[in-house]
Amino acid sequence: MEQPTNINWSFEEVRNIGCNACSLCSYSPPNKVCLTGQGPRDAEWMFVGEAPGAREQELERPFSGPVGRYFDLTLSNVGIDRGEVYITNACKCKPLHDDKPTSTQVAACKHYLLREIYLVRPKKILIIGDTALIAVVGKSKISSYRGKVLTIKIEGLDYSVEIYPIFHPGYIRRNPRFYPMLYTD
Ligand code: URA
Repeated sequence: MEQPTNINWSFEEVRNIGCNACSLCSYSPPNKVCLTGQGPRDAEWMFVGEAPGAREQELERPFSGPVGRYFDLTLSNVGIDRGEVYITNACKCKPLHDDKPTSTQVAACKHYLLREIYLVRPKKILIIGDTALIAVVGKSKISSYRGKVLTIKIEGLDYSVEIYPIFHPGYIRRNPRFYPMLYTD
């Protein structure tokens, strides 16, 4: 897979020059919308989810569909103000049929995710689910990592980042018995 060569993009360039014109993976639906992150560009916290759904694509806002509203409720229950956080996804396009993104898609989008990380320079990253864990940490099985704090070096960053993996709220919505874990993590 050939990666774009320009790693000095601004936020706007990540989206407009890079991501919207992207053909890094074979996935290229007719109305492809590239959804990069939103939030303060100097945020201490970055949240990384999986991929946009239909509502996110329509509103061009990460975590704005049913799962997002469910997640917002959890955030407000634990006193986190979404407005203070930079929220993005491991994959920038809505997967066909809302399937879990393939490893090829995750690998292709990683270029854009890394560029967002370099621009925001977060101290802490909330890893929302397995796809984000694979994209940022290179490991899978969120159930083995949730609730732990990892400190990792991300290639290209000159400092270490604290990583907080949690179950994906979509998974918790389908399996509400795990809600206390989402809440405490
Ligand atoms: N909405 C997003 O933007 N990302 C997810 O992972 C789930 C819902």
